[in-house]
Amino acid sequence: MSSQVRAPRAQPTGSATRQSPLEVEVVDLAGLGDGVARLPSGEAVLIPLAVPGDRVQISAPSRRQGVLRAQIVKLLTASPDRVSPPCPVADRCGGCGLQHVMPARQRRFRAGLAERALQPLTLAADADAALAGLGGGAPLAWRRRARLHLRRQGGQLRVGLMAARSAELVALERCPQLVAGLDAWLPRLRAFAAPFVEEGELLMTLGDGGALLALHVRLRSGAPAPSVAALEGFLAETPPDGGAPIVGLQVQAPGLALSVGAVRVALKDEGDATTEWAAAGGFCQASVEGNIAIRAAVRAGLRELVRRRGRPFALGLDLFSGSGNLTPLLLDVAGRVRSVELDIAAVERAEALHGAVLGAGRDAGQLELTQGDAESLPLPGGGDTLWLLDPGRQGAKGVCEQAAWRQPAGLVYVSCAPNTLRRDLQTLAAAGYRRVSASWVDTMPHTHHFEVVVAMIRADAAFDRS
Ligand SMILES: C[S@@+](CC[C@H](N)C(=O)[O-])C[C@H]1O[C@@H](n2cnc3c(N)ncnc32)[C@H](O)[C@@H]1O
Repeated sequence: MSSQVRAPRAQPTGSATRQSPLEVEVVDLAGLGDGVARLPSGEAVLIPLAVPGDRVQISAPSRRQGVLRAQIVKLLTASPDRVSPPCPVADRCGGCGLQHVMPARQRRFRAGLAERALQPLTLAADADAALAGLGGGAPLAWRRRARLHLRRQGGQLRVGLMAARSAELVALERCPQLVAGLDAWLPRLRAFAAPFVEEGELLMTLGDGGALLALHVRLRSGAPAPSVAALEGFLAETPPDGGAPIVGLQVQAPGLALSVGAVRVALKDEGDATTEWAAAGGFCQASVEGNIAIRAAVRAGLRELVRRRGRPFALGLDLFSGSGNLTPLLLDVAGRVRSVELDIAAVERAEALHGAVLGAGRDAGQLELTQGDAESLPLPGGGDTLWLLDPGRQGAKGVCEQAAWRQPAGLVYVSCAPNTLRRDLQTLAAAGYRRVSASWVDTMPHTHHFEVVVAMIRADAAFDRS
């Protein structure tokens, strides 16, 4: 084992994980990043913190929900792809999961998951079979949006993330995934919240010009609630070294809602123009580089659909549209756009964004923003429509089932969850859709998360020459 590689901490051996003499070779990574080895019986066992190429001694495997798991008792031979994690709590914290794996091996793992998710969809005529990989250039300090947990333990307020598959808090002093502008504030935020917070969440978003923070908490019993003056005092503090200015701060607790400063902040991911308005706690892509890459992949997919068709679409649907991050890309390729988003606060931020976008030379009648459930609303389809869908991890089962009979000519699907993407692509493939381009985007280094952007056409659509 190389001297600069830190061995994973041996896990405590409880009754379910008694030490056993089992030695195994780790051969793969499973979907959530655990190592996979074969037992002498031939059964697969999942081993957290194991790397393909490791030889390890493991605890007696235990079965939960049909899956065999074991812990590393001793690292016998370290894989050449094993590295020392940059974070001191990486082997306990559930926020990352892959810091102990060489970044290039992590990328191969995520690319492999993306390839597998895309398998149900066959290629359209002349489509490029290559799966482009985008993003991932900054493996640390990329997270501009975060949700951390607060919990009082032993009389102290701790801030941290949950351990993997657990409700146990792993306390953090700093988090190397956070952009410096947010990370630098963690000790001071904990000190600010300590007098009045019993437990809850700390939401952080860094935008252009500063950070928004929100504490969604349960108050400590018997302690005075914070005042507006206290929040204003915190907002006025000189930032710590490397910290961004705080431009808005909210505290929400049962019976209490305080807000000082801004409630939304501009994201300017592609230059001077605002690409999105973000709120503390509202959705935006967690990394700037990741969002730029997703937008590039969506733009390329939409353009490829238009190129094949030879003219723009009459109508584009932006489903799961959030605060409108992708809507302008659709406005470039469709005469009219209708967006659908469930979260009313996100729709209001989209209105603020598109007021400006549409003011810049577009006709206001081109865009209709709808607050509603994309999974159950009747959606217009047919040969002159294009659907862009960007659901959360639950995927878009209802939308894809509708696509099968509403038959939009083209679809661009942005997915953050390979399992639901694969399920939905099975539906779309059976309905005759074929892949014209696909990329995967390395949005969240050191984790098993990534995005896939896939553009498709109906095999029998007029513009498909297959
Ligand atoms: C992954 S985000 C994408 C947002 C946006 N496209 C972007 O690029 O930032 C998914 C969005 O879907 C919304 N959402 C979740 N379920 C929904 C549903 N059933 N109908 C419409 N929107 C939904 C969420 O509120 C969230 O804003």
